[in-house]
Amino acid sequence: MTPVRGLPAATATAHANIALIKYWGKADDDLIIPVTPSLSLTLDALYTTTTVRFGAVAADTATLDGEPVTGKAMARIVALLDLVRQRAGIDLAAEVTSVNTVPTAAGLASSASGFAALAGAAAAAAGLDLTDRELSRLARRGSGSASRSIFGGLAVWHAGTDDETSYAEPVADPTGLAEKLAMVVLVLDAGEKSVSSREGMRRTVQTSPDYRPWVEAHAGHLDEALAAVEAGDLPRLGAVAETNAAGMHATMRSAVPPVDYLTDASRAALQAVRDAREAGLPAWATMDAGPNVKVLTSAGRAVEVDAWLRDRLAASAPGLATVVAYAGPGLTVTREATA
Ligand code: PMV
Repeated sequence: MTPVRGLPAATATAHANIALIKYWGKADDDLIIPVTPSLSLTLDALYTTTTVRFGAVAADTATLDGEPVTGKAMARIVALLDLVRQRAGIDLAAEVTSVNTVPTAAGLASSASGFAALAGAAAAAAGLDLTDRELSRLARRGSGSASRSIFGGLAVWHAGTDDETSYAEPVADPTGLAEKLAMVVLVLDAGEKSVSSREGMRRTVQTSPDYRPWVEAHAGHLDEALAAVEAGDLPRLGAVAETNAAGMHATMRSAVPPVDYLTDASRAALQAVRDAREAGLPAWATMDAGPNVKVLTSAGRAVEVDAWLRDRLAASAPGLATVVAYAGPGLTVTREATA
C-alpha cells in the first residue's frame, strides 16, 4: 500500500487567558452556551502549539507533550475534529500533535489555549477559511474559555443564546490598559484538579443556593470592569475582578456536595495578596478551577509584586513556582505549503 501523505498540515499557537470576570455555569451543555458573559486577559507566557494533519493516519490520534491522549480528553478532541470535518465536508482521520507550556488541567487555563489552538489548526488543515468570530465559536465547543483565547489582550465572551450569538471579541481599550497589565501566577500545585470545571459547574448550577444571586450580581461586575477598562483604571478593575472570583468560589462551596478548589496554600496566598495591597502594592487575586492563585498587577510593578509574594510565602508554600505573564497575542495559524 502506498503511504498516504494526507492534506497539508497546519500549525496554530494560542495563548491561555485568565478571566477577570468569570464564566461559571452553562445554559446549554452541548453547545457550551454560558449563563454569564465573561472578560479575560490573554497571557504571553502560557501557550499551546498544535499541529493537525488530516488523511495521514487511519484513525484520529493525538499527543500532548509527546504522550498519547486517551479517554475523555481524546473524546473531546475527536468531537471538535468532527465539527471541523462536518463543516469542511471531509472524512479523513487527523493526526494531532500538541505542545503545552501550561501545566495541564490545574486551573491554569490549559483547556483554553489547547482548544483555541486545536480549532485554529484543525480548521486550517481542513482547508477552511474562518473569521476570528467563527474560530471563537468553534473553540467554544471544545472548552468555553477557549472562545476568548482566539484574541490577544482583553476579550469579552458574549454569552449569547445559541451557537451563532455566543462568541468572544476584543474589548474596546481606549487607554491601552491591556499592555499595562500583568499577572503573577502562583503555581501552588501543578497536579490535575480533583473536580473538572465541567462537573463543578454542573453541580453548582443545580444545587448551590448562592448561584442565582452571583449571576444577578455578575452583570453589574461586568459593567464595572468594562467601565474600569474604558477609564484605564487598574485598581477599579482589580477590585471587581477579586469580588467576582471570590463570589464564584463561594457558590461552589455551597454546592451539594461542595466543590472547594482552595487548599491551605491557596488561602495563605490570598492573604498574602491582601497584605501586599496593604503594603501599597497593586495586587488583586483571582482563582479558577484549581488551587492556584493568579495575581492581577501592573506591568511596571509585576517583578516587584512577584518577589514580594515569593518572599512572603517562602515558609508556607516552600515548593512555590511563579510565572510572571504580560498581555499576550491572539491566535496565529500557519499552513504548510502544498507541494
Ligand atoms: O472552559 P472551562 O470549561 O475550562 O471553564 C473555565 C471556567 C473558569 O476558568 C473557572 C472561569 C473562566 O471564565 O475561565
